[in-house]
Amino acid sequence: MNIHALLVSRFKQALEALDAGDAPIPVSRSARPEFGEYQFNGAMALAKKLKQKPRDIAEQIVAKVKLDDVAEKLEIAGPGFINIHLSDRWLANQCELAVHDPRLGVAKQPTQTVVVDYSSPNLAKEMHVGHLRTTIIGDSVVKLLEFLGHKVIRQNHMGDWGTQFGMLLAHLNDKLQNNQMAETALSDLEDFYREAKVRFDNETGFADRAREFVVKLQGGDAACLALWDKFIDVSIAHSEEVYDKLNVSLTREHIMGESAYNHDLANVVAELKAKGIAVEDQGAQVVFIPELADKEGNPAVYIVQKSGGGYLYATTDLAAMRYRSSQLNADRTLILTDARQALHFKQTEIVGRKAGFMQPEQSYEHCPFGMMLGSDGKPFKTRTGGTVKLVELLDEAVERAGNLIAQRDNDLSEQELAEVAQKVGIGAVKYADLSKNRTTDYVFNWDTMLSFEGNTAPYLQYAFTRVKSIFRKAGISLAELPVEITLAAPQEHALAVQLLQFEETINVVAREATPHIMCTYLYDVASAFMRFYEACPILREDTPPAVRNSRLALAALVSGTMEQGLALLGIETLEKM
Ligand code: ARG
Repeated sequence: MNIHALLVSRFKQALEALDAGDAPIPVSRSARPEFGEYQFNGAMALAKKLKQKPRDIAEQIVAKVKLDDVAEKLEIAGPGFINIHLSDRWLANQCELAVHDPRLGVAKQPTQTVVVDYSSPNLAKEMHVGHLRTTIIGDSVVKLLEFLGHKVIRQNHMGDWGTQFGMLLAHLNDKLQNNQMAETALSDLEDFYREAKVRFDNETGFADRAREFVVKLQGGDAACLALWDKFIDVSIAHSEEVYDKLNVSLTREHIMGESAYNHDLANVVAELKAKGIAVEDQGAQVVFIPELADKEGNPAVYIVQKSGGGYLYATTDLAAMRYRSSQLNADRTLILTDARQALHFKQTEIVGRKAGFMQPEQSYEHCPFGMMLGSDGKPFKTRTGGTVKLVELLDEAVERAGNLIAQRDNDLSEQELAEVAQKVGIGAVKYADLSKNRTTDYVFNWDTMLSFEGNTAPYLQYAFTRVKSIFRKAGISLAELPVEITLAAPQEHALAVQLLQFEETINVVAREATPHIMCTYLYDVASAFMRFYEACPILREDTPPAVRNSRLALAALVSGTMEQGLALLGIETLEKM
């Protein structure tokens, strides 16, 4: 059920009847319960256009709009706001419909093909915290889009190509010559990279050999490609370990790394030149972008081929754009990287659209995010200033969660405790990230993310177990529950409205790739449930059976909504903890 969409369509009909069908229809949530749940704010603008008094227009709209099934009353307030008070009967009916619906009343959307480019680590190195946000936010967005019925194509645009592989392959070659297994040699990519770099900088002849490897790699030399394959394979396995721990849905089949576009880069440049978009400048092929000129009016310079003939990150992204448009027929492409790449994607879009690499109606959406900071407000680092490996961070999370849970009052077996620690620890790290507005930096803090109070994973996971325990105590399963809901107390009314805003919330997150909106929503559901539970006893002896069942049905919808909502965020739930 999408209350907002329903209200918009009813107001649209009313405005059409008033010959103002093309006027905007601003319906928003009311700021305070005494103003109802929603508000129509369009009368003022319309009055201006029709040169009438806003309140008169509002009165005409109220007379015309058909909402008697949905709303208890409509009232005109202030200069001409129309406050909408939803009816208890209608809300109760909608909740009843949602309780036994596996989709909780959420409609599917007309299917679009959506490419989501996320995680995309560079395989020369270990995954670090910089790849946490893209991986988690991206995975939540794909789950949500799939839930809405879209065809989602995950693309892990891994950095698996480039000149740095020359030095890595030369180093790996030597290790294998010395009878080392690739898995052992590459057991720590950071160390391996560092060793190769030291040799590159200091060892005579090594840099030349590294360059030879680059040439052979790009020339398609079979032995060199086999070596490269080996390197990539082991490095991907490292990423898979992280994906596994994070419980994200990325697998090998989603990898579409930079190397996959290698064969097409010369074509991209040739096409840009033929269309007069790329021109030669000091030996390089560049595109001048006047739309992004600096203060002096100099156009931005976007290099697609270096003077030595090498291609760049940008060239690959243009090839990827063209592939996604023409081969995958993507209606939307979402790319999740940190905000420092915003200019690159803005430029890529301008250049790619000029070249006709995508259709005008296909969207290209870079979804930038801020950085994860340490308590000192600087980019998150180890105590000694190194980059934090994701694998280690996640292990620490599970360990910390385990210690916390063990200290709490619980009757968990050792095995259960391990499972809880896993789900709470990983959930806490993911939720801490997801719940922050994507575009801002945030400070990573173990204590707040693992707290059982506030907008955290442990709080929501715990709230969920509390709802579950009510059903255990009642000795009744959802399937046997007669669903007849009556909303009497204000807390019941408020909870029902909150629950019925699930679809609206999902739609916003799907449109804007902003999982934090879902986090806030679920936190509000849990809080509304707590207020309801306090004011409206469910299992107390003096609660009449019909009231008890009605409240149980609401509780069932709470647990369904929380479970589904958390699943869309990639956060696991538990029966008890
Ligand atoms: N590998 C890049 C990085 O680690 C991210 C790639 C994002 N996707 C893209 N199509 N450029 O920064």
